[in-house]
Amino acid sequence: MMLLYGTDALTAAAREGTALPGFVAYNLETVQAIVAAAETSGRPVLLQAGSSAFRHAGREALMALALDAARRSTARIGVHLDHSRDLAEITACIEAGYTSVMVDGSHLPFAENVALTRAAVRRAHDAGVWVEAELGALAGDEDVSTRATAAGGSMTDPGQAAEFVAATGADALAVAVGNVHGFTAEPVRLDLDRLERIGALVPVPLVLHGASGLPEAELLGALRRGVAKVNVNAELRRSYLAAVVSVLPEALPGSDTVATWSAARDAVTATALRVTELLASRG
Ligand code: 13P
Repeated sequence: MMLLYGTDALTAAAREGTALPGFVAYNLETVQAIVAAAETSGRPVLLQAGSSAFRHAGREALMALALDAARRSTARIGVHLDHSRDLAEITACIEAGYTSVMVDGSHLPFAENVALTRAAVRRAHDAGVWVEAELGALAGDEDVSTRATAAGGSMTDPGQAAEFVAATGADALAVAVGNVHGFTAEPVRLDLDRLERIGALVPVPLVLHGASGLPEAELLGALRRGVAKVNVNAELRRSYLAAVVSVLPEALPGSDTVATWSAARDAVTATALRVTELLASRG
C-alpha cells in the first residue's frame, strides 16, 4: 500500500481523542513486528527508524528495510525519522522517501531551536514531508532505560510553545510535561494542567515521547488534551529481550537463532498491538 503521507491521520486522531503510535525499530524483527501490529489492528502506525538506531544498523540498511516493509504492507504506515539534530541526516531521510521527520533542537537555546527547526521544515515541506519538532527537554535516554526521574528534564512553557510553532511552521510538537524516556524507578505523573494549556494555545497535534511504563490513566489523560502521537521504544526493547532470555535455554544447545529471533518478533508484535489498541481507545 502507499505509505501514509501527510498529517490527515494525525489531525483525525487529535480530533477524536486517539493517538498514532510511533514505534522505534532497530532491526529486521522489530520492523516486521511493528508492521504486523499495524496489519492486525487495522490502525495507522508510524514506524520510526531513527537516528540512534542508524548508528547500530547503518542508515542505508535500516532506511531501506523500514521503507520496503511499509510499502509492501496492506496497512497504513508512515516511516518517520525519530530524534535528529542533523540536517544532512534529515535531508537523506526525506530523499529516501520518509513520510515525516523529527528535528530535535530541544537541547538548544530557543532562538537556535527555532532556526534549526525552520531549516528542517523548509526542506521537508518542499518534499511533502511533515515535521515534528520539540520544545522542552525530557529526562532519560532514548536507547537505554536509566531509571531517570522527570526532574532531570525541563518542562515546555505553553506560551513559548505557541510562539515556537508559529515561528517554525512545525506540523506537530513534542512536549515535556513530566514524561521521561525509558522505564523509571517511580511511576511517572504527567503535568496534565500544563499539557491542557499547551493544547489550548498550540494549533498543531502534540506528541508525547517516553510512553514506556507510563500509567494508563496518565496516557489516556494526555490523549484527551491534544496528544495525537505517542512514542514507544523501551517497552518494545524489553519485550524483545525478555523473549530472547526465555527461549535461550531451548535454543542455545542447537544454536537456533531462527527460533530466538522469531520469539522476539512475536513478543514485540504482541506489545505493539496492545499499545496500538490502547491508543485507539479514546482517552
Ligand atoms: P520510551 O523508550 O520511554 O518508550 O520513549 C520512546 C521515545 O520517546 C522515542 O522517541
